[in-house]
Amino acid sequence: MPTPTRSLFSIGSTASRRGFLGTTGRVAAATSLAAFAGMTPAVHAAGSDEIRVALIGCGGRGGGAAADALSVPAGNVKLVAMADLFLDSINSRRRGLGEQFKEHVDVPEERCFVGVNAYKQAIDCLRPGDIAIFATPVGFRAAHFAYAIEKGVHAFLEKPISIDGPSTKRIIELAAKADAKNLKVGVGLMCRHSEARKELFDRLQNGEAGELIAFHGYREHGPVQPMDLYPGPPENMTELSWQAKRFHSFLWASGGVFSDFYVHHVDEVCWMKNAWPVKVEAVGGRHFRGKLDDQNFDSYGVEWTFADGTKFFYSGRTMKDCEQKFGVFGQGSKGAFAISASGHAPAKSTIYKSQQMSKDNILWTASQPEKNPYRVEWEDLVTAIRSGTSYNEAVRGAEASLVTAMGRFAAHTGRTVTYDEMLNSPDDLTTGVAELTDDSPAPLQRNADGLYPVPMPGRYKFEFRG
Ligand SMILES: NC(=O)c1ccc[n+]([C@@H]2O[C@H](COP(=O)([O-])OP(=O)(O)OC[C@H]3O[C@@H](n4cnc5c(N)ncnc54)[C@H](O)[C@@H]3O)[C@@H](O)[C@H]2O)c1
Repeated sequence: MPTPTRSLFSIGSTASRRGFLGTTGRVAAATSLAAFAGMTPAVHAAGSDEIRVALIGCGGRGGGAAADALSVPAGNVKLVAMADLFLDSINSRRRGLGEQFKEHVDVPEERCFVGVNAYKQAIDCLRPGDIAIFATPVGFRAAHFAYAIEKGVHAFLEKPISIDGPSTKRIIELAAKADAKNLKVGVGLMCRHSEARKELFDRLQNGEAGELIAFHGYREHGPVQPMDLYPGPPENMTELSWQAKRFHSFLWASGGVFSDFYVHHVDEVCWMKNAWPVKVEAVGGRHFRGKLDDQNFDSYGVEWTFADGTKFFYSGRTMKDCEQKFGVFGQGSKGAFAISASGHAPAKSTIYKSQQMSKDNILWTASQPEKNPYRVEWEDLVTAIRSGTSYNEAVRGAEASLVTAMGRFAAHTGRTVTYDEMLNSPDDLTTGVAELTDDSPAPLQRNADGLYPVPMPGRYKFEFRG
């Protein structure tokens, strides 16, 4: 029987919490298929073709991803286990999903797990050929993915899936291990599953916008969470669980707002360009400071360059009371185009007859309504599992995550960075994360002044250290 994990955040009484720990290993032992012999079967040897799912990270997106999984038409998917650092997160998602999906949610208390290693217990409830959803902050992604592969379980990895060179290499190595076991891996870059963008890609490749000269994009809105962390964690929460909860604020947990927010746009542009950029330069700064600043800048200006000289300009801002802007666009020698405007879905992809991006100048625009790409990515993953076809988005997802991290690194250091330099950078933001226990100190420690180390361009070799 596995060692029960302890809550990082005391919620309710010890007795009620104990109910959520309990007897889990037995389920896993009973259902771990003796039939598993290295390769993962397309259909369970036990005769059932039901695919069981464990949800690791029961926040907003975790709940959404589980709902998308359970909505696959004729998918025969059932949610059977949940893991999070916080019992209340599990409970609210369990309740909501249960009401919506009824018998497709079978998560009794003994298959709810709390704590930093709860993911193992949730995965232990699965059989080879089932699916684990990873919707925690990305800082945990590689460690969790590794355990899923060890257990012969297919994986859905929410984006981003890496935040620096070492974590990117780790994911790429793990992707190869997943392939060797015939495991399928979906990555939450759902824009890649958008029919509108696929059609745009084909049209761009066919030259409808001419030679692709430049791309530009924007993600400018107010702060999603306060960037002043004062007064720090509440009394009943450890620094570790607090940093994991406030993951956007800490580079080890999320790659900051840069990696967490911008990866979709970066990936969309690189897809349309059909290449990864070779280098990036960037500026950034923090205009408004507080008593306990997090590790983000509040504005970023980035210029990626592709091998043929094509540029991708991007601006990101998280500031109150400023103009808001969201979307990625391009300019070809014949005309401009929108890859996605005003939101991830619908994309509203459009090609214009010239550089004027106006309604009366449209050459082509995606037909509406567009299918929801969050749903389509799950239909594609489950179809691949059922049919046994190769399906692994992890390498591409890691590359997109690396290209995004390049931009952040360039802004935070004030230096031009190449793709190869970033991939081979020794600075490992998630050192030790795989070995964390509930009692571990947080990966980021404050300095002698009680402040978190923050990026200062020109001062450090690696963003905020070295
Ligand atoms: N594809 C998309 O469009 C999209 C949209 C939103 C979020 N996301 C991604 O999903 C992930 C989660 O984002 P969110 O918005 O749901 O955040 P959230 O804060 O709502 O949820 C994250 C959950 O993970 C839990 N958690 C943290 N560390 C954990 C650990 N080690 N083990 C188990 N649980 C842990 C937290 O307690 C929390 O409940 C992020 O990587 C984010 O970038 C993707």
